Amino acid sequence: KKKIIIDTDPGIDDAAALAIALTNPKLEVAMISTVAGNVNVNYTTENAKKILDFFEKQTPLAKGNSIPLLKEYEDASLIHGETGMGGYDFPKSERSLLAEHAVYEMQKRILASTKKVTLVTIGPLTNIALLLNMYPEVKSQIAEIVMMGGSTIGGNTNSSAEFNFKVDPHAVQIVLNSGLDLTVFGLRVTTKALLTKKDIAELKTLGETGKMLYSIFSHYRGGDIDQAGLMMHDICTICYLLKPEIFDFQETNFEIAVSGPAAGTTVADLDNRYSIEKNVKLAVKIKEKQFRDWMLAEIAKLK
Ligand code: BDR
Ligand code: CA
Repeated sequence: KKKIIIDTDPGIDDAAALAIALTNPKLEVAMISTVAGNVNVNYTTENAKKILDFFEKQTPLAKGNSIPLLKEYEDASLIHGETGMGGYDFPKSERSLLAEHAVYEMQKRILASTKKVTLVTIGPLTNIALLLNMYPEVKSQIAEIVMMGGSTIGGNTNSSAEFNFKVDPHAVQIVLNSGLDLTVFGLRVTTKALLTKKDIAELKTLGETGKMLYSIFSHYRGGDIDQAGLMMHDICTICYLLKPEIFDFQETNFEIAVSGPAAGTTVADLDNRYSIEKNVKLAVKIKEKQFRDWMLAEIAKLK
């Protein structure tokens, strides 16, 4: 079993990633931490509770940072709706959170673990940057960081920056410079991780989980799902842990602009023209049909 900690900002695609990760027997989710991203951290934390309740999981949940390290916080409520995960009538959660800040709870669990832990990050990297700066001793206990963020094909916020990286570019810089093994899923592949309109409709037939995901997916961009379908950005990280053969990778140097109009923009030395140190394993290709079939099959297995 792979031991993972998921740092997340649910968020519609985050919810689907959590659903698959929490229920898959090959993954042990040691903890979930929340961060300000798609919506504010109170909402992302409430949303994580709802998903845990839905699957009746006792996974420890801790609330993380409410603002980026230096930049002013910007959310994505335009895309994910005001509360980040509307559309399904989840019961009110009575679940309690871990007592301390997510960064402290993460280091505690990572240091106490008998095996190395993989960090899966599907929101802005604020908590992870704080973790590495405050508790550098965790590094030797981290197997890998698998993240959704960045782009080599232009942005989904402005013309160049991907959302997770744009929210907290300084945090990204700290993580990119950490020397840890980093596996990165940027827009080049995640924009091809699609469920078509027809697939989304099919979800309704896939049990209670399918119905729940259908309801929240229907609130993406206020319900405006275009013909090409919905991008399952965050699910790529979980797919990689379970079926890495669905992706091709290239080791490269990956850097981020932290200020000015290009803040949050990533640059990759894909042709190795500058022979700079390779700091990431970047996903460059996805087998689109296999991804889609895998995702629907995973959901069909659930309640
Ligand atoms: C990323 O931004 C968020 O809106 C999604 O949940 C995903 O993590 C895609 O750019
Ligand atoms: Ca996310």
